[in-house]
Amino acid sequence: MRRPLIEAHLRPDAPDLLDLPWHVPIELWAEHCPRVLDLERGVSRHEVQFVAYDTRAWAIKRTSVHAAHKEYALLAQAEERRLPCVRPAGWLEVRADGEASAGMLVTEFLEGSLPYRTLFRAHGLERYRERLLDAMAGLLVRLHLAGFYWGDCSLSNTLFRRDAGELSAYLVDGETSEIHASLSSGQREQDLLILEENVAGEMADLVASGEPPHPLDPWNTGRLIRERYARLWHEVTREELVAAGEEWRVQERIRALNALGFSVSEVELLADPGGSRLRLRTIVTDGDYHRHQLHSLTGLSVEEHQARQMLNEVRERRAEMARVQGRSVSLSTAAYRWQRERFEPTSARLAPLADERTAVAERYCQVLEHKWFLSERERRDVGLAYALEDYLRVMRAPSAP
Ligand SMILES: Nc1ncnc2c1ncn2[C@@H]1O[C@H](COP(=O)(O)OP(=O)(O)OP(=O)(O)O)[C@@H](O)[C@H]1O
Ligand SMILES: [Mg+2]
Repeated sequence: MRRPLIEAHLRPDAPDLLDLPWHVPIELWAEHCPRVLDLERGVSRHEVQFVAYDTRAWAIKRTSVHAAHKEYALLAQAEERRLPCVRPAGWLEVRADGEASAGMLVTEFLEGSLPYRTLFRAHGLERYRERLLDAMAGLLVRLHLAGFYWGDCSLSNTLFRRDAGELSAYLVDGETSEIHASLSSGQREQDLLILEENVAGEMADLVASGEPPHPLDPWNTGRLIRERYARLWHEVTREELVAAGEEWRVQERIRALNALGFSVSEVELLADPGGSRLRLRTIVTDGDYHRHQLHSLTGLSVEEHQARQMLNEVRERRAEMARVQGRSVSLSTAAYRWQRERFEPTSARLAPLADERTAVAERYCQVLEHKWFLSERERRDVGLAYALEDYLRVMRAPSAP
């Protein structure tokens, strides 16, 4: 028998994959290999298998050798630009018995991710569905700002992660994508047209299979994503005119972009042709402003909206400490105390509830939300400890989501 594995290019942190049954077609692996995981996946033309090594899972997609290499290189470039995409781990060339040689793209399994079909099928996820509009618009804006043309933007080529009651979207299929220094409005328009067409088809499929995507209007979803995209794009890229004496508007603009989650890497101030005003233009790098800030303060890696909520708590903690101590307290001191006294003990209690779909950080944010809900109902600040006990009680109830 010829050796089935011809060539492998894998990153150092990826497993060597040598013990996988490469001599059989990938769609038959479940019968040949205990490493195969039965996880939810989206609709796709190519065969995808998930395999486990220690505590990590990897996705292997069969395609052509050329396509596997190309998609790997593209995802690596996207990763360098810190775009929300699946992380590439390598590519291989293999030849199963009696088959022509094929390419295999290996990516790290995106932990806690949901394909859109699961989002619309599973109970308890209804509240996230409307969030899909902003998540898709936000993903496309971030890609386009970085010069990334998707070429096949669709719901099945996106994975969703729950993020403090919102959704974060990740690109999973970059087979048709290109990276340029920047995109023309024609290229962006092309991506939006593809998006609308694909989403219309996907929504029609849901309706046809008896799963109307309530509360979304299946016939308008693409258009709504496009409208949100246009608003966000305008907000992020617009230029402002700053008159003499109004320099504070520079800081205001940066804060407004940060509040939307965008990090500002550069501020350009150019003299207006008239000479009396300045043109203010900001260059944003990524949509992870709060994630980066929380990570540098605490070392925690969570999603963007989760980080924003946690930072609000850190700031509350800081205000409380400053009041008690009668002097100002640094954000890093407050973050340290918040992490030790609130986040860690609460997470320890929540750990048994975390599963493949809902990470501890998401549960933590749900407790915060529960606290606001109870406080509003009881018209007093009920406190985190009380909210946590009540949340655990609700979750243990037999009908809990
Ligand atoms: N790294 C990953 N983490 C989680 N799921 C993944 C990963 N890679 C692939 N998948 C799942 O496999 C599905 C198919 O992958 P992908 O879209 O790349 O295949 P495809 O055959 O190229 O699709 P298309 O039919 O659009 O060409 C995805 O929708 C996703 O659900
Ligand atoms: Mg796909």
